[in-house]
Amino acid sequence: MRHVPLPRGGIHPLLAQRFSPYRFDPSVTIDDPTLNLLLEAARWAPSAGNSQPWSFFTSRPQEPDHERLVRHLAPGSARWATDAGLLVVTLTRRHVDETQLPYSDFADYDLGQAIAHMTVQAQAMGLSAHQFRAFDLEGLTKELSPHAGWAIVSMVALGKAAEEPPVRRERRSVADLLSAPWTAPE
Ligand SMILES: Cc1cc2nc3c(=O)[nH]c(=O)nc-3n(C[C@H](O)[C@H](O)[C@H](O)COP(=O)(O)O)c2cc1C
Repeated sequence: MRHVPLPRGGIHPLLAQRFSPYRFDPSVTIDDPTLNLLLEAARWAPSAGNSQPWSFFTSRPQEPDHERLVRHLAPGSARWATDAGLLVVTLTRRHVDETQLPYSDFADYDLGQAIAHMTVQAQAMGLSAHQFRAFDLEGLTKELSPHAGWAIVSMVALGKAAEEPPVRRERRSVADLLSAPWTAPE
């Protein structure tokens, strides 16, 4: 196996080793207890006012609903996402029913955090996650017809990675994170 250097900084191995694979092992399936743990991890994420403005449509290759998702994948993501043991469509509750009143100003923020929990739980179980937006949002929205106030945000492919992380991974420096977008006092 190729030696892949971990990102520096001493962060937890679950975070350091996480990456978004472009190849999944199609022979590795996600069983019900594993699926439940992934959803349980998302369930325990923090959210504004404990609003929990998230919902997940899941499907596995052996399930009839899988084809309902696969046909909306962009060709680029279909190349790898169809081999994953699990596809998750993420939905957020942005509005109260059909009104434009926000259900929570932080709905998308909270959904992202729930997916981060799911991703780390996957990593702890020897699985990997690749979040993506490369799918036909309009077509998938028609397909799943979410209730009023709900919107599809992204998809996540989860399964056993069939490749090593890339050697080169670009990240902004910590110094840059601490510097950029505000104005110094006069
Ligand atoms: C909201 C979101 C949308 C993304 N959309 C795509 C996508 O459409 N196609 C893709 O290949 N990767 C997609 N990614 C994965 C990112 O490209 C990836 O996380 C980033 O390049 C960092 O790489 P790493 O996750 O391996 O560290 C997406 C990630 C997020 C969080």
